[in-house]
Amino acid sequence: MTQALAVQLTEFGGPEVMKRVSFELPPPGSGDVQIRQTAIGFNYLDVYQRTGRYPLPTPTGLGHEAAGVVEAVGPDVGDLRVGDRVVYMNAGIGAYADRRNVPAAKLVKLPDGMADDVAAALFFKAMTAQYLVKTTYRVRAGDIVVVHAAAGGVGQILSAWAKALGATVIGTAGSPAKCEIARAAGCDIAIDYSTPDWVARVIDASGGKKAHVVYDSVGRSTFDGSLDIAAPFGYVVVYGAASGPIPPFDIDLLNRKGCLFLTRPSVFPHNATVDLLRANARDVFDAYEKGLIRAQIGARFGLQDIERAHIAAESRSTTGAIVITP
Ligand SMILES: NC(=O)c1ccc[n+]([C@@H]2O[C@H](COP(=O)([O-])OP(=O)(O)OC[C@H]3O[C@@H](n4cnc5c(N)ncnc54)[C@H](OP(=O)(O)O)[C@@H]3O)[C@@H](O)[C@H]2O)c1
Repeated sequence: MTQALAVQLTEFGGPEVMKRVSFELPPPGSGDVQIRQTAIGFNYLDVYQRTGRYPLPTPTGLGHEAAGVVEAVGPDVGDLRVGDRVVYMNAGIGAYADRRNVPAAKLVKLPDGMADDVAAALFFKAMTAQYLVKTTYRVRAGDIVVVHAAAGGVGQILSAWAKALGATVIGTAGSPAKCEIARAAGCDIAIDYSTPDWVARVIDASGGKKAHVVYDSVGRSTFDGSLDIAAPFGYVVVYGAASGPIPPFDIDLLNRKGCLFLTRPSVFPHNATVDLLRANARDVFDAYEKGLIRAQIGARFGLQDIERAHIAAESRSTTGAIVITP
């Protein structure tokens, strides 16, 4: 048995419901490995799950993503050894921990050139950007792409990747300072969507053509505008709801706005098999190695300070990724 520390919730609510618990971690079972986690990735999904917007059975851990080192290998594990550096983004809820046992099939070996904190800042978010630009809507040279919350964790990577594929990228963000960050991340134009005329300004920035695809992770406060800035036959990809869920609406609206395609995808089904996970991870590592995407660590917190990480994210005071150090 090894001593471990993890965040646990017995109820949903504010940041204070996250409690740290110590426990005896058993050796890894069949198909599992034990990892000592060196860097944990915060994702906005953690807030939805902590607040109960996406309910989990309690008691529960929290967190989806971490990087670390294999410390023990259970029976029937083929290709991982003690000392391997690994990352995961979907190995079961509970990444907010210093050590844990996870299925080997959910782990990806880290390339030598990628530091652990970079992996924790990048992996979940870049795997999200990867399917958004390659599968949900295949971004091509010459496309006009809108990325909402473009100074955020996913937003910066998504903007950079769409730009690398040859698109004109119009980013939106919540302040002039965040617009600067969105431009530095790869947006050709960045527009402050806290201003009342942001829809008109995005259409203007597109030269009146509107967007081939709008990537909307903000939800309630941007959705109506997203339908207005999509070109006829364009795609509106709602992949998050940081401002709250979108109320029910009449599907005929999509016809009136120009025969739009609307989808609400998730990273998990896109990486449901070992083969998909490893192929998409390879694509992410290649994009990183070629300098097409970067990790922007906007803030770091210790696991002891996890409440502060959530408060910072919910108050919109962060840019880029938050990394948590066990
Ligand atoms: N479907 C998927 O596969 C998938 C996977 C990963 C992430 N996501 C989603 O992608 C989004 C970005 O995730 P992330 O972890 O990189 O977070 P993030 O973008 O770093 O943080 C969320 C951002 O949303 C914006 N926002 C707008 N209205 C907000 C409000 N009322 N409250 C809080 N934030 C608000 C803020 O940017 P401004 O201040 O610039 O407005 C904030 O910084 C989240 O919605 C997440 O759920 C989806």
